[in-house]
Amino acid sequence: MGSSILKQFVCCFLIIIISWEPQALSRMIPDVSMIERHEDWMSSYGRQYKDAAEKERRYNIFKANVKYIDFVNNAGNKPYKLAVNEFADLSNDEFKAAHIGQRNLSKTAKSSTANPLMYENVTSVPPSIDWRKKGAVTPIRDSTCGAWTIPAVDAVEGLTKIKTGKLYTLSVQEILDCDGGGHNGCEGGFTDDAFQFIKQHGLTTESNYPSKGNVGTCDTKKEDEPVAKISGYENVPVDNENALMQAVANQPVAVIVDASGMDFQFYSSGVFTGDCGTALDHGVTLVGYGTSNGKLKYWLIKNSWGVDWGEDGYMRMQRDIAAKEGLCGIAMEAKYPTK
Ligand SMILES: *[C@@H]1O[C@H](CO)[C@@H](O)[C@H](O)[C@H]1NC(C)=O
Ligand SMILES: *[C@@H]1O[C@H](CO)[C@@H](O)[C@H](O)[C@H]1NC(C)=O
Repeated sequence: MGSSILKQFVCCFLIIIISWEPQALSRMIPDVSMIERHEDWMSSYGRQYKDAAEKERRYNIFKANVKYIDFVNNAGNKPYKLAVNEFADLSNDEFKAAHIGQRNLSKTAKSSTANPLMYENVTSVPPSIDWRKKGAVTPIRDSTCGAWTIPAVDAVEGLTKIKTGKLYTLSVQEILDCDGGGHNGCEGGFTDDAFQFIKQHGLTTESNYPSKGNVGTCDTKKEDEPVAKISGYENVPVDNENALMQAVANQPVAVIVDASGMDFQFYSSGVFTGDCGTALDHGVTLVGYGTSNGKLKYWLIKNSWGVDWGEDGYMRMQRDIAAKEGLCGIAMEAKYPTK
């Protein structure tokens, strides 16, 4: 009896609140759909948190990221889309610390650019090229260690295929273990150092010298079993997207970009047009270029953040912009191996 009266009372009370103070009530209800989105996301990425406090902290970051992603996508005024990807519970600062170089990688930029482009007199530059279609690109890597070596390794894989007809997935670990510690372990290093190592030692295959997720002792026996060799490497003339196009028309090219923005973190599809600056912090590989259906010229970028990011691990980035550095500084420090 008493409880039924209480129910009626609560019921009337709620009706009064709902009709008089709808906003006050909605502030009290937790965001059920966002909580569900977080739970779904956690299970699809196999994410677990150590305790409730950590889960709440991650939920709040997730929620802010999802709101940003939805906002950009719903605005519908950009030629690219973002997605709630595997980085969705990381703040932008955490993302930068974990997945891109932690220092200004343009340290060596513009220091050694005297050579002309090897391809400067090659006039047959096609309007588009995709080295994947020519079988010169290995599968997307998902690097937790040594991302800084990957553009050089990708570029050597491409050149080796072009020159010998053989596509090898080459060892990143060999460089990490054997280059004599001229780098900051997993996290930071320079493309130059990776090319320099390959010039001196060649490189064996990934299957012969597999990734370990950390830097270890050099296996000198495997270091002596190279399947790919280069004679050297050269810089593409700085701040020149035309020269860069000539180079990419002939082989995949290692570049460094500013990948620190949230739109880069959550890029999903389409032609990326920014925002980004030119504080170079992340190496990627140019494996082609072209023009989109929407008539935007783009670079085809191979990244090393797994296939869940971007277009199956790739990004199309706007090409031929007004600024000579190119979008995200893509034309500032491009290098290609020679053989
Ligand atoms: C391109 O041609 C010019 C003029 O013949 C020549 O001076 C230059 O060395 C050539 N560049 C290369 C990289 O061969
Ligand atoms: C990065 O370093 C280069 C060379 O030292 C310098 O010219 C450039 O201004 C730096 N960029 C940033 C964003 O700090």
